[in-house]
Amino acid sequence: MSLNAERSYKMKLRDVENAFKYRRIPYPKRSVELIALLAISCTFFLFMHTNKLNSRLKEMEVKLQPSEFSALGLTGNHISGHDAGKHDDINTLHGTYQYLKSTGQLENLDPAHLNNTPKAERDFVFYNRLEKTGSQSMTRLIKQLGDRLGFDTYRNIVRPSRPITDDEENENDLVEQLFELGEHAVYVEHANWVNFTKHGSPSPIYINMIRHPIQKVISAYYYQRHPLIFAQTLMRNPNKPLKNKKFFDTKFNDCVRNRVRPYCVFDAHNPFNGDWRRFSLHLCGNSEICTHFNSETTTQIAKMNVEREYAVVGSWEDTNVTLAVLEAYIPRFFTGATEVYYNRTEQFTINTVSHDTHLDKDVEEYLKSSFSFEIELYLFIKQRLYKQYIAVHKNAFQSN
Ligand SMILES: *[C@@H]1O[C@H](CO)[C@@H](O)[C@H](O)[C@H]1NC(C)=O
Ligand SMILES: *[C@@H]1O[C@H](CO)[C@@H](O)[C@H](O)[C@H]1NC(C)=O
Ligand SMILES: *[C@@H]1O[C@H](CO)[C@@H](O)[C@H](O)[C@H]1NC(C)=O
Repeated sequence: MSLNAERSYKMKLRDVENAFKYRRIPYPKRSVELIALLAISCTFFLFMHTNKLNSRLKEMEVKLQPSEFSALGLTGNHISGHDAGKHDDINTLHGTYQYLKSTGQLENLDPAHLNNTPKAERDFVFYNRLEKTGSQSMTRLIKQLGDRLGFDTYRNIVRPSRPITDDEENENDLVEQLFELGEHAVYVEHANWVNFTKHGSPSPIYINMIRHPIQKVISAYYYQRHPLIFAQTLMRNPNKPLKNKKFFDTKFNDCVRNRVRPYCVFDAHNPFNGDWRRFSLHLCGNSEICTHFNSETTTQIAKMNVEREYAVVGSWEDTNVTLAVLEAYIPRFFTGATEVYYNRTEQFTINTVSHDTHLDKDVEEYLKSSFSFEIELYLFIKQRLYKQYIAVHKNAFQSN
């Protein structure tokens, strides 16, 4: 088949800069009309099934809530409330430790219960990296670890633009291609969580990195307005509309205060994803429900995936904790990560654009409420990370 021939040719392409091997996602060759027709029938189908789906999801939410999906046995609402006031801030490593200790959970804390790596059915890491979380730095670190530990690293050719979700066919194609890559490998790409089992494929080791959702959006905002970055995306996609001076000059605070569409309106009805506001989308998956911004249901599904599927979701905000957890829970791929990282830290500080992170009070209030569920998910992930770390390093804490 010509598609296969083309595919294997593309697979051999190499990124000269860091020798990451490329993988190609084929574009569907269907005509636009067919896609439109499909979209219309899908909409109709979804419409017919929305009620059923809604009640199923409601059922699911009830089943899943609350303690099962809260890393510390708290509901999200309690997490940032003053329940934590008695202890140190619960959203810190030390606060999490104090909390686990005072509730008697510490004693029974066992890394084996927090370790999803043994559940993987193949020796393959699927890192569906989130944008603006320092994923290029992690990608580079993985490449160096691959050279040391003997595994291959793959990623895609940069696509000029892509839909926020992949359809069933593309998802299946991705799964099949990743299977062809074989064992002892890491695949890094912007993608949504994929259920490999659903496609009859052995499940991989899932990892990801996160960052505070508001900081992530500010970072994306200034990143896209950086002249060099803008020029780069223009080269990749010559059809991209040019922007006026105001686009580049407007400060984030002013953009949000004036609710400039689509960039600075963060409500559930704004489908814009160009600043990658949908943090939960990538951890939730490709189904329609996952595209809902700041939605309780999307958040619950994302939490479920993190808890049950992801081996590690870390953050550069907690570099040492993240590297230690990666080493402890996925040793095959991350042994020596801390050593390699700190040997030459500056090497891993890439693709960053320095920008103003200051938030005016009114803007901060608006963002905090617009991102409430995204923040809940973020805190959930941080607590899980701390918990994984504490489970391994309990004794070091006790001697302090
Ligand atoms: C993945 O798909 C399998 C098979 O369809 C299903 O049994 C399983 O519940 C799914 N897992 C998740 C986390 O959605
Ligand atoms: C993290 O680890 C490195 C290397 O082990 C050490 O130099 C650094 O002080 C640590 N940083 C923090 C915040 O603990
Ligand atoms: C640390 O960096 C030096 C060169 O800068 C290199 O020779 C050495 O192998 C590195 N060590 C590790 C553990 O990466």
